[in-house]
Amino acid sequence: MSEERRCEELSTTDETLTLDQLVERGRAIGATLPEGTVLALHGELGAGKTTLVRAICEGLGVYDLGEVTSPTFALLHEYDSARGLVLHADLYRLRSPGELEQLGWHELLHRAAAVMVEWPERGGEMIPPDAVPLQLAHLPGSHDVRRMCIR
Ligand SMILES: Nc1ncnc2c1ncn2[C@@H]1O[C@H](COP(=O)(O)OP(=O)(O)O)[C@@H](O)[C@H]1O
Ligand SMILES: [Mg+2]
Repeated sequence: MSEERRCEELSTTDETLTLDQLVERGRAIGATLPEGTVLALHGELGAGKTTLVRAICEGLGVYDLGEVTSPTFALLHEYDSARGLVLHADLYRLRSPGELEQLGWHELLHRAAAVMVEWPERGGEMIPPDAVPLQLAHLPGSHDVRRMCIR
């Protein structure tokens, strides 16, 4: 996605957020996300990727937020929302990018109103070049804040 098609909430940023602030940011991102945006969510285990995905889903109007969960053995989760199909990929257990192809990845990407990918680096060339990279990280010595960078 070109810089111009990004919403305000996805402008380049580097901020430190409490859990409440991160959830608030996620809801705002979801509420203003342009159709077809792919978000590449980088960050180690426990960085807050799934927490952010859930908040973005809330902003997007996903009907059953209970479906938006942390790792199961499914690589892809499909949610129904006010905006249409929301695709949530967790590629932690992906063995090779080709595995995604077999799951109908490209067709799903094409259909989805919004796509969020945890562990995008494991998806290699399957991640569209216009995906918006968002990085979450722990801060040394602090359990309850996270650094969020959008490039
Ligand atoms: N500021 C914060 N932002 C996001 N998560 C936080 C924050 N502070 C504490 N947490 C906790 O850290 C955990 C993040 O887990 P999760 O979202 O599943 O991470 P990931 O998907 O990156 O592995 C959750 O239990 C969440 O409540
Ligand atoms: Mg996760």
